[in-house]
Amino acid sequence: MTFRLADRIVRLPEQFFSGLTRRVAAFQQAGHDVINLGQGNPDLPTPSHIVEALREAVLDPATHRYPPFRGLPELKEAAAEFYRRTYGVTLDPEREIAILVGGKTGLVEIAELYLEPGDVALVPDPGYPDYLSGIALAGAEPYALPITAKNGYIPDLEAVPEAVWERAKVWYINYPNNPTGAGTTAAFFERAIEKARDHGVLIVHDFAYGAIGYDDHRPPSFLQTEGAKEVGIEIYTLSKTFNMAGWRVAFAAGHPEVIEHINRIQDHYYVSIFAAVQRASVAALRGPADDIEALRQTYQRRRDAFLGALRSAGIDAPSPQGSFFCWIPLPSGVSSVAFADALLEQAHVAVAPGRGFGEHGEGHVRVGLLAPEDRLVEAAERMARFWTRRF
Ligand SMILES: Cc1ncc(COP(=O)(O)O)c(C=O)c1O
Repeated sequence: MTFRLADRIVRLPEQFFSGLTRRVAAFQQAGHDVINLGQGNPDLPTPSHIVEALREAVLDPATHRYPPFRGLPELKEAAAEFYRRTYGVTLDPEREIAILVGGKTGLVEIAELYLEPGDVALVPDPGYPDYLSGIALAGAEPYALPITAKNGYIPDLEAVPEAVWERAKVWYINYPNNPTGAGTTAAFFERAIEKARDHGVLIVHDFAYGAIGYDDHRPPSFLQTEGAKEVGIEIYTLSKTFNMAGWRVAFAAGHPEVIEHINRIQDHYYVSIFAAVQRASVAALRGPADDIEALRQTYQRRRDAFLGALRSAGIDAPSPQGSFFCWIPLPSGVSSVAFADALLEQAHVAVAPGRGFGEHGEGHVRVGLLAPEDRLVEAAERMARFWTRRF
């Protein structure tokens, strides 16, 4: 017997990168020494005080019961404290913070909550592909805002037609940006808030790489800009800041009514997150800021080692301002998918083809700084040898 799949699921886009993952696994199984820089999965362990907090919590039978539907109040308080300490932003833990099962779920829930068929959601191009998932489920349309070297990775808001603004209901923004590594300024957030207010658009700032800014760039929180809470929310994940990608914890902060709606839909999906994981997350958010600074410095050293090796082999690539990605422009006319395929086949280095992040990602590959420095240097050298043989 076969069952008819609901249209909204049929509409879900193909996971562009699942093919790459399979190919990497095939080369590894064949015994090749593959350096996999194609994914965005932090390679370093969760700090030990967080793991210890989980161990303690899991031994307390109180954590074995259903947690409160909307999460532990102390986790929301710890998130509010973290924002006050890190960004000088004041948040009401109960009204302005919602616990999420990882940032991804929040991104999809927003689309389910606010988009109807025929509505438009603004997305960065290139951008994180999962924004498109919720938009497709809701039967809405994405409208791509190009962010390229030409516009300094800041979208030209004046180029968006009035008719699109009228249909736009949700606007996904992401800085530091995956995949380009671009940072932004408070001035862009100010303009975005003005536009959102004029057109009744809900801004969702995805701040997944908020802790990772390089040199003198300290990524601003959207919520630091005046009026932000009136037009949107910020999604902050523990995945990257605390190397907790597998733990699935994030939170949304900002507009109280939006927070209430997120909680409301989640009342139907989940009974929050395992309480022991929530207690460990409290330890993460209340932990020493030095750990976060040390992680930032680790990625900065990796960035410098990788780009240094690439540049000394004669390949120029810009330095990212944040995130743990380098965005490498290819020689003109070269397909990013063909390049990534051949690089994996011939040099056993996996990178993500830019086309997977949108039309404007073509002509680039994304390199994740997710291996020790010596492996990154080795990857850059293999990549450079491959490059000079071919071009
Ligand atoms: C831009 C961006 N947003 C959101 C996420 C989702 O993170 P998580 O679901 O682990 O919180 C990621 C993860 O790679 C990301 O790169």
